[in-house]
Amino acid sequence: MDNNKTLALLGLQWGDEGKGKIIDYLAQKFDVIARYQGGPNAGHTVYWQDFHFAFHQVPSGILNPKTVCIIGRGCVVDLGVLKEELEQLTQAEIDFKNRLFIDSKAHLILPYHKALDNAREKAKGKDKIGTTIRGIGPCYEDKYSRIGIRFGDLQDDEVFLEKLKRNLAQKNFLLMELHNDEPLSEKQIGKEFIKYAEFFKDMIIDGSDYINTAYEQGKKILFEGAQGTLLDIDSGTYPFVTSSSPTAGGVCNGIGIGPTRIDDLIGVAKAYTTRVGMGPFPTELFDDTGLMLQKQGSEFGATTGRARRCGWFDAPLVRYTARINGIKQLALTKLDVLDRFENIYIGIGYRYKDEKTNNFNVELTGELKPEFLKMEGWRCSTKTAKSFDDLPKPARKYLDKIQELTNCEISILSIGEQRDQTIISPNFKW
Ligand code: GDP
Ligand code: IMO
Ligand code: MG
Repeated sequence: MDNNKTLALLGLQWGDEGKGKIIDYLAQKFDVIARYQGGPNAGHTVYWQDFHFAFHQVPSGILNPKTVCIIGRGCVVDLGVLKEELEQLTQAEIDFKNRLFIDSKAHLILPYHKALDNAREKAKGKDKIGTTIRGIGPCYEDKYSRIGIRFGDLQDDEVFLEKLKRNLAQKNFLLMELHNDEPLSEKQIGKEFIKYAEFFKDMIIDGSDYINTAYEQGKKILFEGAQGTLLDIDSGTYPFVTSSSPTAGGVCNGIGIGPTRIDDLIGVAKAYTTRVGMGPFPTELFDDTGLMLQKQGSEFGATTGRARRCGWFDAPLVRYTARINGIKQLALTKLDVLDRFENIYIGIGYRYKDEKTNNFNVELTGELKPEFLKMEGWRCSTKTAKSFDDLPKPARKYLDKIQELTNCEISILSIGEQRDQTIISPNFKW
C-alpha cells in the first residue's frame, strides 16, 4: 500500500455521496487530482473557511495550493460554467494559475447541446430522465457520433468555426423541425467561443502524457469520479442514468492510462441513500422519515437545487456497486445526519414477486421491495468525534453492520461538512 501512487475515488450510489468533501480532505496528500468523466452535471460541495463552493467542472482539490488539477479527456466541458467557477475562486483569492489544466481531447458542451437536452426532456413528458439540462447527453452523443468539438479544436479559430457551422446546421434543423424551438445563432456562438479560446489558451495539455509522466516521477495522483455507479451508462439503472462511465472502468479511458496504473480504489457512500431525478429507488421513503432525512441532510441538489429523494442505506445495492468496481474500502459520509433518529433501518434484501433475495439486481431495480433490519439509534451528536472509539456504541454497531453487509471496510468516516469532521481508519495508508 505504501508504494501506491494513484487512488481512484468514485460514488457507489446515485451521486451526491459527498465525494467533493472527501476529495478536498484528501487533496492535502496528493500532487495531482484529475476528473475523468462527466461535466457540469456534477456538483461537488466543499466548505472551506467562510466559503462554500459547489464545483461543477473544477476538480475538488483546487483549494489545496500545491495540488495540480486536471480536467481529463473523458470529461465534457462547458467553458462558460468553468469561467464562472474560476471567477469565484479568484474572489476567494485562490490562485489556480499553472495549477489547472484541460486535456485537449475533452469535448466541449455547446449551446445547442443544452437546447437539445432541454427540448428532449420536454418532449418525453412524464417519461423524462430528469437530467440536469446541462447538455451532457447530447454532447456525449456527438462524441460517439464522431462529430464532437474538442477543447483542442479551439487552438485554430478556422477549424473551430468550420466544425461549428457543420454541426449547427444539423442541430438547428432538429431544434426547429422536431422540437418547434428557436434556432441558435452561429455568429453569436462563434464570437463567444473565440473569446474562450483566448481565455483558456494556457490551460491546454495532453492529460494522458502529463499523468503518465507524473506517475513515473512517483507523484501521488487522485482520480476524481463524478456522479455514481448507478448512474453509469452501462452499470446503472438504465435509461435513468448519465451518459458517461463513473465506474472504475471509466478511469483508464477518461484519463488515458493503463489499468495497471490504478493502484488503489475507494468508494464513497452516504450512510443512507439519495437520488435526484427520475428512476427506480428501492429503499426510498415517502413519509415523514424521508422528509426528516432530507431536512437533516440538507438534501437539495448542488447543481439544480432540486430536492433529493431520500431513503435508508441499501446494503445489497452498495455490495453490488462495490463489487463491480472491485472496491474493498468505503468512505462513508453523513453519519451525523442520523444523529437524531430513534431507530435506523438498513435495507438487507428484497422481495421480488413472491421470492426473497439478498442480492441487488440492477435490471429489476423498479420491482425490488426492500426488507429492512431495524437498528437502535444513538440520539446524540457524532459531529465532534475524533476517532471511531469516540462514537456512541449504537453508531459503531451500525458501521459494523454496513461493513459486514457490503464486504467493505470503512476507511474514512465523515461526520460533518467541514474538512476536519473526518475520521480516518489506521488501515487507510494514504
Ligand atoms: P458530491 O456530488 O458527491 O460531491 O456530493 P454533494 O456535494 O452534491 O452533496 C453532498 C452534500 O453533503 C454537500 O452539501 C456536502 O457539504 C454535505 N456533506 C458531505 N459530507 C457530509 C457529512 O459527513 N455530514 C454532513 N452533514 N454533510 C456532509
Ligand atoms: P455528482 O457528481 C446526482 C443525474 C440527473 C439525472 C441523470 C442524468 O454531483 O454526484 P444528466 O444531466 O447527467 O444527463 O442527468 O443523472 N445526475 C446526478 N445526480 N449527482 C450528480 O453528480 C449527477 N449528475 C447527473 O439528476 O437523473
Ligand atoms: Mg453532487
